[in-house]
Amino acid sequence: MARILITSAIPYINGIKHLGNLVGSQLPADLFARYMRARGHEVMFICATDEHGTPAELAAAKAGKPVEAYCAEMHQVQADLAKGFRLSFDHFGRSSSQRNHRLTQHFAGKLAENGLIAEVSEKQVFSIDDNRFLPDRYITGTCPNCGYEAARGDQCENCTKQLDPTDLINPRSSISGSTNLEVRETKHLYLRQRALRDKLEAWIDSKTDWPILTTSIAKKWLNDGDGLQDRGITRDLYWGIPVKKGSEDWPGMEGKVFYVWFDAPIEYIAGTAEWADANGLDDAAWERWWRTDKGAEDVTYYQFMGKDNVPFHTLSFPATILGSGEPWKLVDYLKSFNYLNYDGGQFSTSQGRGVFMDQALSILPADYWRWWLLSHAPENSDSEFTWENFQASVNKDLADVLGNFVSRVTKFAKSKLGETVPAGGDFTPSETALIADLGARIRDYETLMAQMEVRKAAAELRAIWVIGNEYLQAAAPWSAVKTDPARAEAIVRLSLNLIRVYAILSRPFIPDAAATMMQAMGSDDWTWPEDVPAALRALPAGHDFTVPENLFRKITDEERADWQQKFSGVRT
Ligand code: 2FM
Ligand code: ZN
Repeated sequence: MARILITSAIPYINGIKHLGNLVGSQLPADLFARYMRARGHEVMFICATDEHGTPAELAAAKAGKPVEAYCAEMHQVQADLAKGFRLSFDHFGRSSSQRNHRLTQHFAGKLAENGLIAEVSEKQVFSIDDNRFLPDRYITGTCPNCGYEAARGDQCENCTKQLDPTDLINPRSSISGSTNLEVRETKHLYLRQRALRDKLEAWIDSKTDWPILTTSIAKKWLNDGDGLQDRGITRDLYWGIPVKKGSEDWPGMEGKVFYVWFDAPIEYIAGTAEWADANGLDDAAWERWWRTDKGAEDVTYYQFMGKDNVPFHTLSFPATILGSGEPWKLVDYLKSFNYLNYDGGQFSTSQGRGVFMDQALSILPADYWRWWLLSHAPENSDSEFTWENFQASVNKDLADVLGNFVSRVTKFAKSKLGETVPAGGDFTPSETALIADLGARIRDYETLMAQMEVRKAAAELRAIWVIGNEYLQAAAPWSAVKTDPARAEAIVRLSLNLIRVYAILSRPFIPDAAATMMQAMGSDDWTWPEDVPAALRALPAGHDFTVPENLFRKITDEERADWQQKFSGVRT
């Protein structure tokens, strides 16, 4: 049994996430967490809301609420939606927690002790019309690297380059659009990432098994000459974690807060501490996941995120960890994703374009979305959601293949042979062949799941469903029952057992349908089918089963057209 720590990039607090956000981090992380638990490993799966920074302040102002109250409310909304999608976090924390305040201040103090913080008097963009300093991401302009016109002051969405606002060509305030900006003097703390460059490079070079998407982004910014600039880690804002050196005040930093990207990844650790607090456990309980001097040396740590988050997780956050000089756990494997597009364009939170998590659940249950999103995860390139493709996948994979198998087997068995697993007949070469094929495919599925090859694993699972259907079609118990009832009984006995095995294998993708299948088979034995022949005898003759409700319904052409129309506009 291994110990597996999994974190998903923590979603910003300001607003409900769209399906592109979901498939880029939380959902595949959940798939992996569920799979690892199913294999009997000890899993700690942490996510949280990313609550600081100007977007939160502005969204609260727009909602007419104090920012604390706004964040508390939105955290609950996001937590409920996560439950709705069956995201199985061990804890869904908040980056504004006291745990994160203390840990963030602790890391800053250690970095300062180690000479890795520089105090810099700098010029910052002040918006006269908005009467405030503008944080990086609230300055919009043209990217000096690629020419993209809507680049933000912290990063260009188009080419992923990390920017400083003063790099932007034709800068304007994204709050008011005003170009009436001036540069004023203010003091800030900088993390001296450059001093850690060699350490970071050696660490990234040691990660030979990382996906190319991850290492190429990391290397790009590491080797680009200006890729690893020292980063400002403080801001002139009200809302955030007050700048302190450990528990002590930091002279000259009064009224300033840490930059949201400094405290957000630290929330992975703080979120685990929040988990311990919520469960009445002591510090040792969370430290054994994070401190290699306190039990975490045998933990394997996986991070999941969209590609725009990779520079922060391969450079900035590791710089914090390494620079602390303390034995904190660094990520072992970083799985990153490309973007999911929506019907010929981009999903966009700011433009309200696409399908958002609450809307998705209002039209169909979680499993339908989970299946489509995971089986089309944007791994090797960007992928696209279209309603046609969604309809086709749901109707074919879920309704025709899996749903139909379960329904045919159970209905036939009940009507012709009764509501217990039948006893007659023996396995013939066709059962032996199915078992061999299934065994090979399950081993393949395990490999793909362990490698986080999400799309390929989905394709293998679908293939596993298909061979059950093909077997049933060829074995034709509905014919056999007329001439050789014992033969029909053997076929049905195997098929009912197959339903239970399908429940176990499918659970990481479609947990609700899996629970329905398992329950219908009158079992609660989720033991992974390491021994396939044994797994296919788990439900013995005489064991009761029931016919489940239809597992999946088909999406009609009218519904598809209706939803396409309904979600073509802009969410306000
Ligand atoms: O891109 C985002 O949604 C960020 N809120 C992710 C932060 S991940 C981490 F650093 F905590
Ligand atoms: Zn750019």
